[in-house]
Amino acid sequence: MENGKLTIDPAFTVAPVNRRIFGSFVEHMGRCVYGGIFEPGHPTADDDGLRGDVLDLVRELGVTAVRYPGGNFVSGYKWEDGVGPRDQRPTRLDPAWRTIETNAFGLDEFMTWARKAGIEPIMAVNLGTRGLQEALELLEYANHPGGTELSDRRIAHGAVKPHDIRMWCLGNEMDGPWQLGHKTAEEYGRLAKEVAGGMRQYDADLELVACGSSGRSMPTFGAWEATVLEHTYDVVDFVSAHAYYELEGDDVASFLASSVDMDLFIREVVATADHVGAKLASPKRINISFDEWNVWYLKKFQQEGTPTEWTSAPRLSEDAYTVLDAVVVGSLLITLLKHSDRVTAACQAQLVNTIGSIRCEPGGPAWRQSIFHPFALTARFAQGEVLEPRVVAPTMATAKHGDVSVLDSVATHDPENGRVAVFVVNRHPSESVAFSTDLRYFGGVDLVEATVLGDEDLFAVNSMEDPDRVVPKAYDSAKVVGGALEAELPPASWSLFVLQTS
Ligand code: AHR
Repeated sequence: MENGKLTIDPAFTVAPVNRRIFGSFVEHMGRCVYGGIFEPGHPTADDDGLRGDVLDLVRELGVTAVRYPGGNFVSGYKWEDGVGPRDQRPTRLDPAWRTIETNAFGLDEFMTWARKAGIEPIMAVNLGTRGLQEALELLEYANHPGGTELSDRRIAHGAVKPHDIRMWCLGNEMDGPWQLGHKTAEEYGRLAKEVAGGMRQYDADLELVACGSSGRSMPTFGAWEATVLEHTYDVVDFVSAHAYYELEGDDVASFLASSVDMDLFIREVVATADHVGAKLASPKRINISFDEWNVWYLKKFQQEGTPTEWTSAPRLSEDAYTVLDAVVVGSLLITLLKHSDRVTAACQAQLVNTIGSIRCEPGGPAWRQSIFHPFALTARFAQGEVLEPRVVAPTMATAKHGDVSVLDSVATHDPENGRVAVFVVNRHPSESVAFSTDLRYFGGVDLVEATVLGDEDLFAVNSMEDPDRVVPKAYDSAKVVGGALEAELPPASWSLFVLQTS
C-alpha cells in the first residue's frame, strides 16, 4: 500500500478542546446503577454504597460529565420516587427495560456519586409520561437554595447545598416509536418549547438540550430536527444526536469506517440547525450534544429481547468489547474532536456493565474493557486547541460507506506547554500503512510518547480472568526524522503520538 501523509499546522485550528466531549452516561438499565456504580456491601463500597473500585476507574477514564437517569428509562420515571428515606420509596415497574426498579438509588445519591467522581451532572427530564409541572418541580428540588417546600425537602433529605445542575435534556429519543410517550416532531417541538420556556423562567442561564434523532437512519431524520428546532430555536442551546455502531457479519472494513457515518450525521444536523437559524434570521447557533454514542451489539440485544420475567437489575448488553471495537471507539472520538466547533458536549453510552467501558462483578473485581483505553488516553492527552490535519492517504472500498481514506486523524496543540497530540486510526483491516506527519510549522519537535492499540487477534477481549489482555502498547518503530513523525501503523489500529515542540 502507498504511504499516508499528514500535515499538521498550528494554524489549522477548529476550536478549543471542550472538556464536555468526554462525557458518559449512567442509565437505570441493567447493572449500570445497581451492581455497577452502586453496590452496598461490596468490599470497596463506601458508606453511601458507592463502589470504590468503580469510582477509581471512572476517574482514570477521565470522564468529565455524566448524563442521568436515562435513556428510555427516563420516559416513565417519577423522580420523586427516588428521593427521601429509602424504606419509604416505592418499588415500581420500569416498562422501558421490563425491570423492577427499587428506587434505592435516585437523584441525591447520583449527585453524591457525581461529586466523588468529580464529574458534571447532565440531567434528563421525563417528557414521555410527564411535562412542564414535573420538570419545574424537579428543578426546584434540585437547584433552589431553600425556603420552599421542595427545596426544603431536599435539605431535609441531607442535601443542604443546592445541586446547581446546569445542563438539562428535554426528554429522550422522543422520535423513537419504542419510546414511552413517543411523539411526532410537532407534538414534541411544542412540548419542548413549553418546558424549556418554563425552566428558563426559573433560571435563564440553564443549558437546555432538545431531542434530535435517535439515529441517522431514522425515517424522520432531518425533518425531525427542522420541525423541533423551528419550535424551540430561541429557548434551547443544543440538539441531541445518538449513534451506535456494530460489526455486522464479517464486514470489518465497514465497521472500521463507522466514523464516516458519524461525520456525515454531524454535518447534516449542523446544516439543518443552521437552515432553521437562517429561516428565523437568528444570529444564534445551536450546537450538538452527542449524548449517546458507542459500539453496541444492538442486533444481538434485540434478538435476545428484553427479559420476560420482571427482575431487578438483570444483566443487559454486557458484551465484552474487542480490539476492533476499541479502534472504532478511538475513531469516533477523533470525529467528535474534529467537530469541536459544533459538538460541544458528548456522552459515551454507557459507563458501567451495560454497554459499558467498565465491567464489574457483584462482590468481585472491576476491570477496564478494551474501549476504556482509547477514551482514557484521548481524554488525557487532547488538550488546548483541536487541529484538523490535512490527510493524503490511500483509500479502501467499504460496502456501507463507499471508498474511504484508510487514515482517520485529529491533533491537538496546547500553546501553554507546547504539547502536540496526534491521534490516528488505520482503518484497513489487514494492511499496515507507513505514515509520516509533517510538523515543520511547529519548529523542532521531540517524540515524548507513542502508543498503539492493535492486535494480531482483532477479537481479543478483556475479561475478569484476563483483565489486561487488550492494552495499549509502546510503539517501537515511531521516530521523528527532520521535523517529521514517522511510523508504521498496524492494520486496524488506533495510535497516539505525543510530541513536545520547542
Ligand atoms: O443506551 C441505551 C439506550 O439506547 C437508551 O436508553 C436509549 O436512549 C437508546 O436507544
